[in-house]
Amino acid sequence: MPLNLAIILPTLNERGNLGPLVERIEGALGDDGWEVLIIDDDSKDGTADEARALALSDRRVRVIQRIGRRGLASAAIEGFCATAAPYVAVMDADHQHDPALLPAMLASLQAGEAEICVASRFALGASTADWAEPEREKLSGIANAMARKLTGVALTDPMSGYFMLPTATARALVPRLSGIGFKILLDLLATSPHPMQAKEFPLNFTARREGTSKLDRAILLDFLAGLYDKTLGRVIPTRFALFGTVGALGVIVHMAVLAALLLGMGEGFVFAQAIAVLCAMSFNFWLNNWLTYRDKRLIGWGAVLRGWAGFCATCAVGAFANVAVATLLESQGVFWALAALAGIVIGSVWNYALSSRFVWGRF
Ligand code: GDD
Ligand code: MN
Repeated sequence: MPLNLAIILPTLNERGNLGPLVERIEGALGDDGWEVLIIDDDSKDGTADEARALALSDRRVRVIQRIGRRGLASAAIEGFCATAAPYVAVMDADHQHDPALLPAMLASLQAGEAEICVASRFALGASTADWAEPEREKLSGIANAMARKLTGVALTDPMSGYFMLPTATARALVPRLSGIGFKILLDLLATSPHPMQAKEFPLNFTARREGTSKLDRAILLDFLAGLYDKTLGRVIPTRFALFGTVGALGVIVHMAVLAALLLGMGEGFVFAQAIAVLCAMSFNFWLNNWLTYRDKRLIGWGAVLRGWAGFCATCAVGAFANVAVATLLESQGVFWALAALAGIVIGSVWNYALSSRFVWGRF
């Protein structure tokens, strides 16, 4: 049988889930006509090694190990571009998505019934009873309502991570996808020049087999980022806008600390400004890690501490220029708040240029 369907499995620490999932996919699709593409972002648990071990004895399994790159959406895009199969599906590698739906989705596309098939947690007949995360379920409901408004496509679950479409369609949209965050389906739907004709498949969404979820509340912000990306994002890139917004919030932190030390505690300007810089820097690191780089988030005490140290280090030059410029202006009689602001502007240019590369990017 010729290669018909590629199943993309983006993975981040899913070692133990891979083998059993390939077996379940085989159970659903039969012996051939398909391939599994494991797109692993250099998981620390050896997921890529496990994938290679599977691939050694099973030619239907392929591996792309990405080093220094992260993100669920970009992993899916990587898969679209790395397969010759005419149809492509994306699904969680953690067994939350039942492979038994694959044949029906494929048949539906081949019969021309739909341009995209989406497994839905909220369609009639679907269930999330075994999910056991009521908060996430509620968030999904709100998110879906917003998404429907955004794309104009009537889906019960536009945030689904389980869908299938002709690979050529996906690839044609790739140059205009944002590729940031987790919302790959939404991205495809919003980028398509015409509203895609979608068919939904009720999914029994279960708890993950092993390991922990990589997504969280920040997933809601993906919508706002998505909305921005499709409009103003063409002028000022989304990531830069987020970084700027975080920076602006950092200014508030900075000013509050500065005012407290200067006016409240009667400290000298140089000392107060330096402490304010440190506080604002730490706050900005935390919020950028949570929001701006949520798809590349540093997780765990070690990574966060290293990232914080790196962020402070790359910002050190900017912080020095910040304090120097502010002190100079203040000594020239410029109002203290204005002097501080000038210092901040100089410092933030460094922050973005260096941290996007050295903290969340790749050397
Ligand atoms: N390569 C790669 N890079 N894979 C990733 C990354 C990443 O940065 N982040 C997560 N993954 C993988 C996980 O290993 C898993 O196989 C899949 O992507 C989905 O991640 P989960 O951690 O299982 O997400 P979830 O179950 O909490 O979220 C589900 O619901 C979302 C909507 O609320 C998923 O179905 C999402 O796809 C869906 O958007
Ligand atoms: Mn999952």
